[in-house]
Amino acid sequence: MKFFKLSDFDYTNKKVIVRAGFDIPFDDNGNITDDSRIRKIIPTLKYLLKRNAKVIIISHNGRPKGKYVKKLSMEKVGERLTKLLNQKVTTINDCIGSSVRQSIGEMSSGHVILLENLRFHKEEKSKDESQRNQIGKELASYADYYVNEAFANSHREHASMTSIPIYIPSCAGLLLEQELEVMGKVIHSPKKPYIAIVGGKKADKIDVINSLLGKVNKILLGGVLANTFLKAKGYDIGGSLYDKETISLAKELLKERKIILPSDLVVGDEYKNNAHKKNVSIDNIPNGWMALDIGKGTVDNYNKLLKDAKTIVFFGTVGVFELNKFSYGTKQVLEAMASSKADTIIGGGDSAASADKFGLSEEIMHVSTGGGASLVLFSGKELAAIKALEKNYEKYK
Ligand code: 3PG
Repeated sequence: MKFFKLSDFDYTNKKVIVRAGFDIPFDDNGNITDDSRIRKIIPTLKYLLKRNAKVIIISHNGRPKGKYVKKLSMEKVGERLTKLLNQKVTTINDCIGSSVRQSIGEMSSGHVILLENLRFHKEEKSKDESQRNQIGKELASYADYYVNEAFANSHREHASMTSIPIYIPSCAGLLLEQELEVMGKVIHSPKKPYIAIVGGKKADKIDVINSLLGKVNKILLGGVLANTFLKAKGYDIGGSLYDKETISLAKELLKERKIILPSDLVVGDEYKNNAHKKNVSIDNIPNGWMALDIGKGTVDNYNKLLKDAKTIVFFGTVGVFELNKFSYGTKQVLEAMASSKADTIIGGGDSAASADKFGLSEEIMHVSTGGGASLVLFSGKELAAIKALEKNYEKYK
């Protein structure tokens, strides 16, 4: 892996476009509930500002499908950045176009602007490479250098990740570099037994389960992924969230005995803290109720398996940890990791937030900002955005 590092360029009075990973959670009132993905890139921003760069930050948040969505605006992120950097960060109400160009033209050295959510433009994640390159070229034209400081999005072949580095000298930010280094060591020589816990709300994680199976001794499932596998096995999962599109893939993967599913679940009649709840076996989910946590029997089984593990990786919580009523399973699994002597890695915004919520982050060897991205790395694949940085190095070295 050879790519430029942050210290490889001279940023004095130069415009630098920093791709951040500000895909962060907000509560119903629009307040940020976890700002660690902002705090963790402050060292890179300060590094650039100290060298009198003009810093233009870009990011996505959520999955707005190419349209403006107020609650996914970057405005609140700009306010938080202003506090954390202790200097004014101006949020511009778009990420491309004449108003953006004008604001950048008016920037002085040492100034920071934050552009609006990239995913408000569908071209950012278009499947058509030429469309992505078009917006990528436009973004690249705003700056002299590009810094990838969005490890969490580096598995995505999106314009801001893989197209901008086609056009201007590009490097890895400090956090990206550290993430790759720390996790790289575990990936190259994991101690066995090696167990992965995969949960969370994103069903598309199933795409890399097959490759991950070739690396680990066991995969313990929770969250939406577990529901999809249970549905694939023919269980009636009531009103639980699952992914229809990947049922046949789940059926195929079920032939693999390394995949461990919950044997019981905590179900709720509503997705809220004051819902009624029950601990039921997987063949006994009441009509209309939904799985919101793994059950007590499953917790015991998972913790028994984790006891002997020498490497444990955790990508996605096993229940809706945000609701206290359904956070028991996630807390127990994280406690087992925290008290284990194994090499332990947690990946993802929600996963990191859950470890924080239970005060366990300090006991974990590495808490990564990326869930999907870490999962891709641990399954032995290269990240699309890192490949783009490598190509960039070959072009500009
Ligand atoms: C993440 O939080 O995993 C990244 O921001 C990627 O988000 P996505 O799964 O919506 O592409």
